[in-house]
Amino acid sequence: MSTGARQLGSFSVPPIGLGCMVLSHAYGVPPPREQGLAVLARAIELGIRHFDSAALYGFGRNEELVGPFLRPYRDDIVLVSKGGMRGENGVRTIDATPAKLREDIEHSLERLQTDVIDLYYLHRYDRKTPIPIEDSVGELARFVEQGKVREIGLSEVSAASIRRANAVHPISAVQSEYSLWSRNVEIGVLEACRELGIAFVAFSPLARGFLTDVDLDPAAFAEKDIRRGMPRFNEPHFSANRAWLGEFRRIARDAGCTPAQLALAWVLRQGDNVHAIPGTTSVEHLDDDMGALDVTLSDAIAERLDALINPRTVSGPRYPAATQTEIDTEEFGTDTDRAPG
Ligand SMILES: NC(=O)c1ccc[n+]([C@@H]2O[C@H](COP(=O)([O-])OP(=O)(O)OC[C@H]3O[C@@H](n4cnc5c(N)ncnc54)[C@H](OP(=O)(O)O)[C@@H]3O)[C@@H](O)[C@H]2O)c1
Repeated sequence: MSTGARQLGSFSVPPIGLGCMVLSHAYGVPPPREQGLAVLARAIELGIRHFDSAALYGFGRNEELVGPFLRPYRDDIVLVSKGGMRGENGVRTIDATPAKLREDIEHSLERLQTDVIDLYYLHRYDRKTPIPIEDSVGELARFVEQGKVREIGLSEVSAASIRRANAVHPISAVQSEYSLWSRNVEIGVLEACRELGIAFVAFSPLARGFLTDVDLDPAAFAEKDIRRGMPRFNEPHFSANRAWLGEFRRIARDAGCTPAQLALAWVLRQGDNVHAIPGTTSVEHLDDDMGALDVTLSDAIAERLDALINPRTVSGPRYPAATQTEIDTEEFGTDTDRAPG
């Protein structure tokens, strides 16, 4: 499978983009601004053209960091953001009603210092309000008409929702968690994307840092690190998953690459419409991740990986129960027990 440029809607980009979230959000204390800018600068040097941000990240601070930095490169890159989920008065809220989306887009355009966002995702299908996905996507379609957004994407949605949304306006990309240890999209989402000609963007492709050569220590996670609340970073699941990590790293050695490259190359092998957006606060790790573009996995290596890490061998759900109720995707062990193909 080629790791040359792939389509992201109408844009042609290398299949590894930069997930910008960690520069302002999620895994403990965000790095100093200068460090974030160094990662962004290295990303440009390495040829990354797909930059993924969101109103939510750092409650606006991520867009404020990424947008101004990318201005000189604006015509050469795909600037991505998301609305429908944001920080308000220090609290994360989901509301994808048209009125709220109109507020979100104006704030994002201002923070990103741009007139138009290339790809704008509905960050969450609003199941709480609740509002039909057609209404949220209908509003995003108006942003396209108004020239505020070039193309539309959806994040963490089921195959059924993708089809409903795509009937309202063509969907360019679907973004969901996908890695060796999070395979839910194999139930129906990947198939729907292939069938409808939609790019699939794998977020957290390194399992939030787990599928690398760094030994994570959940006890040392900072207070605000969101992994603290995630079952797989808590016992008994963390130890159960650590049990196969050594063999994963041995497979990387056998494949002649690093563990992070193995994890990313596996994701990119899943289809010519698949992109990966790893996140990092480190220039060295970014170099490592981009090395995955030079890695081609043999069938034998892919078979060893699938036998080692799959929904039967991974311990624990990916999200805490409360977060899971906000998600509109099929999950193994709930909607269906079908094993991945
Ligand atoms: N749509 C959604 O709901 C949603 C949800 C989550 C994420 N996302 C998007 O997906 C992006 C990626 O998510 P993520 O940050 O969870 O992805 P990830 O790449 O699975 O995990 C990032 C973690 O991996 C570590 N890492 C990265 N490269 C490494 C390497 N070569 N060696 C060792 N450690 C490495 C980073 O630590 P260091 O900083 O130390 O490198 C960081 O803590 C986000 O930035 C965001 O854009 C979207």
